[in-house]
Formats: sequence, C-alpha cells, structure tokens
Amino acid sequence: MSDAIVSARGIRKSFQVGDRKLEVLHGVSLEVGRGELVGVMGASGAGKSTLIQILGLLEQPTEGEVTFQGQSAWKVSVAERAALRNSGIGFVFQFYHLLPELTAVENVVLPAMIGSSMGAWRAARRENLQRAEETLARFGLKDRLKHRPAQLSGGERQRVAIARALFLDPPLLIADEPTGNLDSATGEKVLELLLTEREERGLSMLLVTHDERLAARCQRVVTMDDGKIQGDVRTAARAAAR
Ligand SMILES: Nc1ncnc2c1ncn2[C@@H]1O[C@H](COP(=O)(O)OP(=O)(O)OP(=O)(O)O)[C@@H](O)[C@H]1O
Ligand SMILES: [Mg+2]
Repeated sequence: MSDAIVSARGIRKSFQVGDRKLEVLHGVSLEVGRGELVGVMGASGAGKSTLIQILGLLEQPTEGEVTFQGQSAWKVSVAERAALRNSGIGFVFQFYHLLPELTAVENVVLPAMIGSSMGAWRAARRENLQRAEETLARFGLKDRLKHRPAQLSGGERQRVAIARALFLDPPLLIADEPTGNLDSATGEKVLELLLTEREERGLSMLLVTHDERLAARCQRVVTMDDGKIQGDVRTAARAAAR
C-alpha cells in the first residue's frame, strides 16, 4: 500500500468560460506522504489553488484520479466524500472563510456540528464547546470567544480558522496563502502557530505560499508553472527533520 495520505494522478482541470473551455491544469501528478510538509509555489495564475482544491476534494478534476487515504475520492458517494473531507482534511484560506453570523467558538465547532446527527450533536455539544474554548484560549483568544468575525482582527480571524481546521484532528491540513492577508509580524505568529500544531500532531500539510523563507521550512517544495509541475525539490529542512 502507498504511504501517501493523498495522491493525484494525471489531473486535468478545465473551466467553461463563456463559450470557451479553459484548461488550467494540464496533467499534474502529486503525492503527499504521511506527516510530510509540502510547500507549493509558483506565479499567480499558475494553478496552485486549483490543484490544492482538487487534492482537498473540494473540486472535481476534469480528468485524472484523486486518492485520499487509499480511497478513490470521486468513486464514492457524495455523502461519503463529504464525510471524508470533513473529518479528514482541515482547510485554512487566505481570507479566513469564517461564517459571519457565528461567534468564534461556534465557528470552531462547525466541523463537529456538520459531521454528526442532531442527536449526537446535542449529546456532545457541551463537551465540544468546551474543547473549542480551550483551543481558542491556547491560541491566545481567551477573551474573544463570543466575538463575531467582523469584531476580530485579521490575525485573530486566522487563529479561529486554524482552530476550526484542526477541530476534528484531521490527518491532512491544507493552507492556501494563510498569511497572505496579514502584516508580516502577525503573519509570522500565525505561521508559527500553524507549524507548531502541525508538528505536535504529526500532520501532513500542503502549504501554498509566495514566501521563499517559509518554503525553506517545508520538507519539499513543488513549483507550478502554467498548469504544470515544474519542480519538486526536497529541501534541507527534510534532512534536518530526519
Ligand atoms: N472557477 C474558475 N473559472 C474559470 N477560470 C478559473 C476558475 N478558477 C481558476 N481559474 C483560472 O485558472 C487559473 C489558475 O487559477 P488559480 O487560482 O489556481 O491560480 P493560483 O496559482 O492559485 O494563483 P494566485 O497565486 O494568484 O492565487 C487562473 O488563470 C484562473 O483565472
Ligand atoms: Mg491561489
């Protein structure tokens, strides 16, 4: 059996734009090993977000196969795929994607709420809320639990988003320019938080970034150009991790 947490083979992705079909991924194959930290770099428009959304089972490839934890992700039912994604993959986006009408704590428990029946959610509600509060406190947000996203700073919003992404302890974390919208000092702190959590939990992680220094901290860096993988390099950080 393969040691990959997620693997994509021969991926093509086209979008219909008006009466034209625009192909943005032209046959991409990529595997992420268990516990591996992989950086994804490349110019704007190269297809990085499209690729990681496919690896994160958010987008269906036009051609090719995606296997998550040994299961062919698009051969299972919609419900099975949603369950796979909800408990298996945590997402962190540049613009947070928090639900504006929910408080910080409510946003964090969302994956548990989505993943369980009404009865199961009611039974575990108190415990889940407590665990979310503990995580937020650990992330420095003890006094922001009931704030709504609009009442939080960018760095605080991203911490809430990270707590949400980690809430069900998924084996894979996917982050698309998680510090892209933050000033450098705030971004640095958010990044340290992400990398520390990843290391403590032994997570696999795919991280899209434009930051060379950050990429140097990944164990492997995949470079994309015009819808193809142009480079796939094991970095010094991998040697150090051994
Ligand atoms: N839903 C869509 N419909 C049509 N075209 C799309 C769609 N999503 C992405 N594209 C196009 O696909 C190409 C790759 O987009 P993608 O968002 O993957 O790039 P990226 O590498 O993440 O860029 P950036 O660094 O700016 O985030 C772009 O040219 C974009 O315009
Ligand atoms: Mg992008």
